[in-house]
Amino acid sequence: MDYSYLFNKAVRGMQPSGIRKYFDLLEGYEDVITLGVGQPDASVPPVVRAAAVGAITDGYVPYTANAGLFSLREAVCGYLSRRFSLCYCPESETLITVGGSEAIDLMLRAVLNPGDEIIVPEPTFVCYTPLAELCGAVCIPVTLRAEDRFRLTPEALKKALSPRTKLLVLPFPTNPTGGIMTHDDLVKIADVLDGTDVLVLSDEVYAELTFSGHHVSPASIPGMRERTVVIGSASKAFAMTGMRIGFAVGPEPLIDAMTRIHQYGIMSAPTTAQIAAVSAFNNCDADIDAMRLSYDRRRCLMLGGFAAMGMPCYPPDATFYLFPDITASGLTSEVFCDRLMEEGRVAVVPGTAFGASGEGFVRICCAYAEENLREALNRIAAFWRKVTERAA
Ligand SMILES: Cc1ncc(COP(=O)(O)O)c(C=O)c1O
Repeated sequence: MDYSYLFNKAVRGMQPSGIRKYFDLLEGYEDVITLGVGQPDASVPPVVRAAAVGAITDGYVPYTANAGLFSLREAVCGYLSRRFSLCYCPESETLITVGGSEAIDLMLRAVLNPGDEIIVPEPTFVCYTPLAELCGAVCIPVTLRAEDRFRLTPEALKKALSPRTKLLVLPFPTNPTGGIMTHDDLVKIADVLDGTDVLVLSDEVYAELTFSGHHVSPASIPGMRERTVVIGSASKAFAMTGMRIGFAVGPEPLIDAMTRIHQYGIMSAPTTAQIAAVSAFNNCDADIDAMRLSYDRRRCLMLGGFAAMGMPCYPPDATFYLFPDITASGLTSEVFCDRLMEEGRVAVVPGTAFGASGEGFVRICCAYAEENLREALNRIAAFWRKVTERAA
């Protein structure tokens, strides 16, 4: 049977994630230090673990309301108000999802029709374009540049807008660049959108990992709340990636549409994880602050190492990623990563895994033990010397 003809046309063209390739490659190598996987290395806060264990011990594992446990929706709204000055109603404007990933998929499916355009600033996390294409939407990439601190400029947005634009993705803080948008940057974006019906998907799963000042949500800018769905997650803030709890908050009609899809596709997020997340959103502000400090220390260690070896790297304002510029090696991002793995035994991800505009960069995650980071820096420095001497 030739299955390829049976697939949805958008699935036929869907490429596997460029990040996944580097996880899979690790299998064939020994003694590789991986700085590829983007997940926290902190341990889950003890109160979160205790809440999950308590739910299992009590045998409390029913389905919950489709929108999620009310106590969790309340906890999420309290957390957003406390930490980001956002005000949402737990009854009608909040949906608990299976990770931020499901919330992204739901928003795209709730609003996109074939032929709609969606503006995606790149380099960025890998899921928006393939999921939007499943809806028949057309993705318009906008390149974020190091000289703009990887921020979206109003000029670039204006150029990308068309009468067919349905949705703008604001993926800030950004994986892989660590770029953020300040209050003033967002006001300029709001001005460009003023008078349009363009919706905004604001992916804020890294909001808690902002090092330069406090994260500002686009929904807090005048005129933006009515067009914006804020997507967040327990994954990065509380080191709960495998528990798969995320959320969407936004205007009631949008959350209602997303909840209808979620109701048929998922029913409800896993109950044990929801109970654990109540504890996380209510009780773990101090854990977040400790994790942020520890990522910041390692971010500085890596930046110092890159500076010493002469590898240019824009200092990320957020996330646990660094996005050094490898063009001086004369290698493409992919060849650089393949050779660094082969010759230096360090696994990092090519910038092109995050869009064509990631060419000339690699993504390095610093959420690893400091001794591994130090050894990785030694190996990268030796490789960098070799390839840059040859290129000169
Ligand atoms: C920018 C961004 N958004 C969303 C996600 C999805 O996170 P989760 O589904 O674990 O909440 C990730 C995961 O790495 C990410 O980097």
